Amino acid sequence: MTKILEVNNLQVDFHTYAGTVHAIRNVSFDLAKGETLAIVGESGSGKSVTLRTIMGLLAKNGKVTNGEILFNGKDILKKSERELNAMRGNDISMIFQDPMTSLDPTMPIGKQVAEVLRIHGDVSKKAAMDEAARVLELVGINGAKERLKDYPHQFSGGQRQRIVIAIAIINNPQILIADEPTTALDVTIQAQILELLKELQTKIDTSIIFITHDLGVVAGIADRVAVMYAGKIIEYGTVDEIFYNAQHPYTWGLLESMPTLETNSARLHAIPGTPPSLLNPPKGDAFAARNAYALQIDTEQQPPFFKVSDTHYAATWLLHPDAPKVELPPEIARRRKIWQKMNPTTSKEAE
Ligand SMILES: Nc1ncnc2c1ncn2[C@@H]1O[C@H](COP(=O)(O)OP(=O)(O)OP(=O)(O)O)[C@@H](O)[C@H]1O
Ligand SMILES: [Mg+2]
Repeated sequence: MTKILEVNNLQVDFHTYAGTVHAIRNVSFDLAKGETLAIVGESGSGKSVTLRTIMGLLAKNGKVTNGEILFNGKDILKKSERELNAMRGNDISMIFQDPMTSLDPTMPIGKQVAEVLRIHGDVSKKAAMDEAARVLELVGINGAKERLKDYPHQFSGGQRQRIVIAIAIINNPQILIADEPTTALDVTIQAQILELLKELQTKIDTSIIFITHDLGVVAGIADRVAVMYAGKIIEYGTVDEIFYNAQHPYTWGLLESMPTLETNSARLHAIPGTPPSLLNPPKGDAFAARNAYALQIDTEQQPPFFKVSDTHYAATWLLHPDAPKVELPPEIARRRKIWQKMNPTTSKEAE
């Protein structure tokens, strides 16, 4: 599989009056052509900063202190502002967290969509408008041709989100980055938008990085999942590996807090406690203070990544050969059983 994006040992600091915030702490991951990667984690774990750094859109007080971001083998961090401008919206597109504010309320939507095409390429007004109508139709704006002169306020929240997606994909980007594109929308519209992203992937052959703090929305659309906590990726694997064979107690917590068909929301479990301050990140595993399964070493030393399979790695001392065997939380034990049924040969030794 061709790697289209490779993030290696990325470290990002922010300078604030209170001190240096270590927002991204040695993050590495990659993205294959045509793949959908989900990045999940609680608020403040570093999801948006990671993706903004890829786009070259770090806030002024932010600084990359280490690492490289290879896009088709070339380091984005070494690109000039001009090269970055050419890349954004053309090669890599981002749908921002708050879609309602990313449209210009004073400009008809046809013009807004067509403009992106004209900035990046040499196309006539007429051709750009035709293409805008085609892409708006593609993202599910029915009768788009007749609606090109309408303004954003004439569309519903879900439709506006689709327009934002049309703007992001009109130049056929190689990577589409979606930063929690659904938080502002109600649940049924969220589902439709996610369905749309999944559909688009087959239609326009793009790779997608999708970020969310809800593992539940990941299942239907992602191929792989990276779990972030306190500025680090703490576990990554295929969707099945993360859903049924998770190894990090933090991932267990996220899985336990997902509503399932059997558990109604009233019985939802939230992970107790709050993430640590990134001004002074803890010495050991940043999750230790909230981790019912923490070992002595968790408070002293950061766990390395332990290999679970060729595609699955987790940074938890529980995977060390000398770690004690722990009793899994009931929901995780239930999932592990499903995993063993799915993989009768490989999971034998794990019993
Ligand atoms: N400009 C900034 N100055 C100082 N700290 C910042 C800045 N931008 C982000 N941070 C800090 O970096 C950390 C990561 O923030 P980020 O926005 O990536 O979180 P997130 O995972 O996207 O959370 P959410 O789910 O709430 O969007 C947080 O601790 C945040 O406070
Ligand atoms: Mg965010």
